[in-house]
Parts: sequence; structure tokens; C-alpha cells
Amino acid sequence: MKRIALLTSGGDAPGMNAAIRAITRRAIFHGAEVYAVRHGYAGLIEEDFVQFGARDVGRIIQLGGTILGSARCAEFQSEAGVTKAVKSLGKNGVEGLIVIGGNGSQAGAYDIARRGVPVVGVASTIDNDLCGTDVTIGVDTALNIALEAIDRLKVTALSHGRGFLVEVMGRNCGYLALMSGLAGGADAIVIPEVPSDPETVASELLAAYDRGKSHALAVVAEGAAYDAEKLRNYFSQHHERLQFSLRVTKLGHVQRGGAPTAFDRILATRLGAAAADHLLAGQHGVLVGMQRAEITTTSLGEIVGRQKPLNPELFGLAQSLAR
Ligand code: F6P
Repeated sequence: MKRIALLTSGGDAPGMNAAIRAITRRAIFHGAEVYAVRHGYAGLIEEDFVQFGARDVGRIIQLGGTILGSARCAEFQSEAGVTKAVKSLGKNGVEGLIVIGGNGSQAGAYDIARRGVPVVGVASTIDNDLCGTDVTIGVDTALNIALEAIDRLKVTALSHGRGFLVEVMGRNCGYLALMSGLAGGADAIVIPEVPSDPETVASELLAAYDRGKSHALAVVAEGAAYDAEKLRNYFSQHHERLQFSLRVTKLGHVQRGGAPTAFDRILATRLGAAAADHLLAGQHGVLVGMQRAEITTTSLGEIVGRQKPLNPELFGLAQSLAR
């Protein structure tokens, strides 16, 4: 294989640039040419390629986001879009593709792989919801950003004796909420994987006051049936009975920005280099991830369309400590 391409797709994640750097340099080390695709699958369809040399990926390891740009491409969702993307690779003499991204992006990688193109995926999303890896590029940075926000909110909550709701990202997965709640000592954690309702959240927050705390804090996943907005509305409708009001902070895209942590840079470097090694060695149709501290590959067919389950013990642990 002489020429490969790489792209970043879906929501950007801190560490994507470190992966771009590792893939590029490792592939060049193996004697291959590297074409970088701008703006994800949209750029692939439009043949928006630029050849990368080793120096083109200098001074990017510490940068958040993706220097290639990312996109959520509606056209690529259709058969015709996938056909265009496959043709674009062939026309430009590209023999293999590396896709850095999360669930939706790896589903796209699988669509291309099923057309006979050698494809390798690199697990990257702040949601950490991909099967085939214990951890994805970007989640450590996002978690640390969420945690810093929680720590800051606790300072002001303490000063005023207030209750706070913090909503974190994660799409349909509660990983970021569970882990930031656990690390931030939350009084309640609301995630999609564990059914809850406003009365339960209210009683968990009131219990914090009952046990002598002057403040209370709940971490809520954006994908929970009762997200921060719904909980806020419920609490304001029942204000008289519940006897407390809540301040709500939605962290949103703040969690996706920022420089990658050392953990994310090293993870991205290892996964990126391994993806180049596998593709150039003829091992493709797989997602490269990290499981039990080892770099592993899992067939794309096995991981696509699935969401990694959370460890229920961690939810139980957080609940037992909020006492
Ligand atoms: O998948 C990453 C993610 O940040 C999710 O946590 C979030 O639900 C979604 O992307 C937001 O997407 P967008 O940036 O397109 O608004």
C-alpha cells in the first residue's frame, strides 16, 4: 500500500491532532504517502485532499480540535454519498483510509469498508460510548474540564448555600456525568442508563441538606430522560413544596475545547501509530482502541450500531458515597 488518507469526523475531540500527527509520521516512516482529507466525509466526497509531510503535522500535538476540520455530513448518509466517497479515493490513488472519530464516524468507516476499501478506525469521542475500547481519545480532557467546572460551582454553592444542577455532554451515554459526578463528589447523578425522576433527584438533594451540608449539587447527563432543563422546570413548578431553588449550568461545547491532557495525547499517539501500522500491514476493517491497557483491534462490524454499557458498580459507588 503506497498511499493512504486520513480524516477526522463527527464532534471534534481533544487529542485528534495528536492522532493526525502520529498517523502521518508513522505512515511516512513505513514509506507511504499520506493524504489528509479536510472536513470529514464531506471533504472526501468533494475530493478535498492535501498531501501531508512530516513537517505539516509539527506543533499540533498540544492543540485541541482538529486542524483538518470536521463535519456532520448529510450527503454521506445516503448510498449515493458513500459511492461518491469511494470513487473519490480511487480517483486519487488512495489505497487505504483511517477514520478518527466516534460512533457515527465509525459507522461511516464500516460503510466504506463494505465496499472493499481497506479502512481502519481510531476511537475518538468525548462521549466514550464506543465499543471495542475502554477509553476514547478526548474523554479524559472533557472529563477534567467538567470536573474543574464542578469544583468551581461547589465553591460558589458553598458560599451561598445553594443547590446546583450541572449538565454535561455525552449524547445518549452517561459516562461523562457519572465520572465527573464521582470525581466531583456530587450529591446526585442523573444518567440515561439509570431511570430516575425529579422527585428522586429532589430527595437526594434534600438529603444533602439533612445531613448537614449547606449546599447540594447534581450532575445531569444531557441524554437523561430528565435533563437539566426538565428538572429546572419541575423544581420551579414545585418550589413551594420542595423549598429550594436550583441554579443550572449547562457546560455544553466548553467540554470539547481546550488542550488535550497528557493522557489524551499519549492515547492518541499510540492509537494513531497503531492504526497506520495495521493498515499498512494489510489488517483492516477494524477499530483500533485500548482495552485493559493494551492496544487492540476489533472488527468494525462488531462495534458499529452498539453503545458501550456503563459499569453499574460505579453508579452504586457514587450513590453509597453521597451519604
Ligand atoms: O459526540 C460528541 C458530542 O459533543 C456529544 O456529546 C453532543 O451531544 C454532540 O456531540 C453535540 O453535537 P454538535 O457539536 O453537532 O452540536
